[in-house]
Amino acid sequence: MLLAGRVALVTGAARGIGRATALVLAEEGAAVGVADVLPEVEATAEAIRKAGRRSAAAVFDIADPAEVREGVESIVKALGPIDVLVNNAGIVNNVAPVGRMSHGAWERELAVNLSGAFNMIREVVGSMVERRWGRIVNVSSIAALGGLHHQAGYAASKAGLLGLTKTVALEHARDGITCNAVLPGLIATELVTAMPAEIRESAVAATPARRLGETEEVAHLIAFLASERAGFINGVEIPVDGGMRLNTSSLASRREARETRRPG
Ligand SMILES: NC(=O)c1ccc[n+]([C@@H]2O[C@H](COP(=O)([O-])OP(=O)(O)OC[C@H]3O[C@@H](n4cnc5c(N)ncnc54)[C@H](O)[C@@H]3O)[C@@H](O)[C@H]2O)c1
Repeated sequence: MLLAGRVALVTGAARGIGRATALVLAEEGAAVGVADVLPEVEATAEAIRKAGRRSAAAVFDIADPAEVREGVESIVKALGPIDVLVNNAGIVNNVAPVGRMSHGAWERELAVNLSGAFNMIREVVGSMVERRWGRIVNVSSIAALGGLHHQAGYAASKAGLLGLTKTVALEHARDGITCNAVLPGLIATELVTAMPAEIRESAVAATPARRLGETEEVAHLIAFLASERAGFINGVEIPVDGGMRLNTSSLASRREARETRRPG
């Protein structure tokens, strides 16, 4: 087991990648605190307890520093100081060309996706420094590398998260703390599987692996980065994208993608 005796905290753990990550960290031996704005996060805690590990849930908005303080305190009280922080919670609520994006929607995406991770790190890093050990994993996106049509706020927030990741890595490497980023491509969460078939199929065609990723494929990478074994890996950004970020503009690539999309 990679995480025996550790205490982890995963944000956005009510569903999707966050829920899968919380379950995998528990499988690897950690006690896992789970946080979300949705009260359904209690079901994730319940599943972890059923699997024989300690768990506690907290409902709070990561964009609100006061709520974060209170929520983290409640998890620490229940499980002990946090060894592993996974900043997974994120939103897409702002799909429009940049010239038509509302200021409020832009601000909210940055507040959750970028400031939310900052708020969480600020709350736990002091105790990691005191204990000379810590692992922070930030869930960014391949949109941070290539941009994303009509999602300037999302792409900018996820790119900002990479700057935060590298700075925390630099500042705290000497304290036995690592901070790394994982960059999912298209992963089969409820949101993605509910997309109109045409959009989903074209995304699959743009992925050299020709399939969506599974939430567990992201979760297992996070578990490794959270472990003792990954102690010398710091400040990196690792795509989990079936090759989606690679150059697919060659004639042969485009021909193969067209063939994937052709029915039958
Ligand atoms: N699914 C993908 O294809 C994909 C691709 C790239 C990156 N990502 C990133 O992975 C992470 C998880 O994505 P997912 O697909 O599982 O999404 P999801 O929407 O299924 O889950 C996100 C969770 O975060 C919670 N959340 C949202 N705002 C919050 C807030 N302010 N405070 C606390 N919790 C909050 C939601 O309630 C939800 O449970 C996100 O950061 C997302 O940007 C996902």
